[in-house]
Amino acid sequence: MSRCSAPGKIILFGEHAVVFGGPALALAIDLRITSSVIPSNEFTVNGHAMKKRHHAYISAALDEAWGGPPIDIETYSVIPSGSGLGSSAAVSVSCVAALMAQKGRVDPESVARKAFEVESTVQGSASPTDTSVSTHGNGILVSPEKKDRFLWRIEKGERHWNVHHCDVLGLTFVVGYTGIHAATGPLVTKVKKLVESSQEARSAIDRIGEVVIEGAEALVKEDKRTLGALMNENHELLNGLGVGHDALDRLVIAARGKAYGAKLTGAGGGGSMIALTDSPKDVADAIMNAGGEPIVVKVGCEGVRVEK
Ligand code: MEV
Repeated sequence: MSRCSAPGKIILFGEHAVVFGGPALALAIDLRITSSVIPSNEFTVNGHAMKKRHHAYISAALDEAWGGPPIDIETYSVIPSGSGLGSSAAVSVSCVAALMAQKGRVDPESVARKAFEVESTVQGSASPTDTSVSTHGNGILVSPEKKDRFLWRIEKGERHWNVHHCDVLGLTFVVGYTGIHAATGPLVTKVKKLVESSQEARSAIDRIGEVVIEGAEALVKEDKRTLGALMNENHELLNGLGVGHDALDRLVIAARGKAYGAKLTGAGGGGSMIALTDSPKDVADAIMNAGGEPIVVKVGCEGVRVEK
């Protein structure tokens, strides 16, 4: 038997724009998914017959990283699915890693590549942000150019992404989960259609790219005020791309009273928002009073790992 776990994530800046090849900054969080691979007489998931339709990510992970005899895959998750916190990436990464461990060696770069293929297959269009941060942990900066602390480069069609290590020190984030499940694929498709037809949407994608670069500089300096202002701007730009939600706005506005800044995180359309703050309890209370589920997360956590 082999068992691996992988973390979920928050995207600090750059979601959606990164699908078009722009930059993004993502941080691993202390919520994990564990996948175990157990020899079996038939292909099963958590004891049930494996069905492509119900177990899309796990079936795709098997196509990418297995080819062996029947197995049972057992998953354990504390990340709500469709919450914008990277549950599909963490399941893809932990499952690919457990399959590789069962066959021999787990090599992070191969895990990141294969898990990205899994997400692309299931979602249609994807960037390697979620799967790379879940693999590497810590923080990552994804950018079209190669920079310092380079980890790996991933290509798909005409697009490419360079993935870099990024330190995240001394920052406290509170997540606010709306409880509204939002699938990433349709939201990515919606933004793609808008960008193809609207100059304004294309400009928003370009500005998000600049926000990421300014944000990466502010992160190095631990300049929380600038980070917060950029988070607020990024949120408005995402609303302009049609991936906001009233429930997200309610939580964002409530949190901003006690935070440097707040924005939706991940695909949007529901899911979660994040706030950067020095007063996590106050922000958590504000989120709860506005109808959300607050989660004070640790960031910069360990990436994929083999479990005993
Ligand atoms: C989802 O967490 C982030 C998106 O940018 C999609 C992706 O990068 O694959 C919306």
